[in-house]
Amino acid sequence: MSGCYPACKLTSYDILPWPGLDGAAEAVTNLFGRDHFEYIVLNQSLLEPTGQYDFIYIDASHDLDLNANTWNKLLKAGAFGPNAIIAVHDTGIWPGDLMPREWEGHRGGKLATCNKVPQGGVAHQPDEIKFVEWIVRAYPSFVKFDFVSANVIRHGVTFLQEKAEWRIDGKPV
Ligand SMILES: C[S@@+](CC[C@H](N)C(=O)[O-])C[C@H]1O[C@@H](n2cnc3c(N)ncnc32)[C@H](O)[C@@H]1O
Repeated sequence: MSGCYPACKLTSYDILPWPGLDGAAEAVTNLFGRDHFEYIVLNQSLLEPTGQYDFIYIDASHDLDLNANTWNKLLKAGAFGPNAIIAVHDTGIWPGDLMPREWEGHRGGKLATCNKVPQGGVAHQPDEIKFVEWIVRAYPSFVKFDFVSANVIRHGVTFLQEKAEWRIDGKPV
């Protein structure tokens, strides 16, 4: 946000009312002022994007169909600014050998096994993994980087960006 100050603005959408300042919202408000943060109560299925964004962080329903619908709407509305980065949370796995036994009851015991890391593990939000795989198949102009770990328990995040060729002096390199 510092990079595009003073025009910078963080807009947060959530199906639930805002519980108050915390985390990123508090940091943004402290750094840039209240005018630079907006909270909108909205079900993501009703999102009708109007703005253009440099960074979009998706961490809401964890539902493949809803997320794909949101992605299509964002794309159709031209919401991805030039070189926009889209981050999708919860694409990581919990390495099987590091996962505490009591977590096996998570999601009603319906944890999906996953072999994204060599020793295998558990996808705690399998629809987020399906979502990012769907994006790069349906929209091959986008590339992704899965920021996940095989060595520590992390929820994981995947960054996506549309491919763009570097040019120097206006020419391909
Ligand atoms: C795992 S939390 C993450 C919240 C935030 N990204 C954070 O890190 O603090 C998921 C959030 O998505 C919201 N949510 C769930 N389903 C949603 C939907 N269909 N539309 C909008 N928000 C939704 C929940 O209310 C919850 O606040």
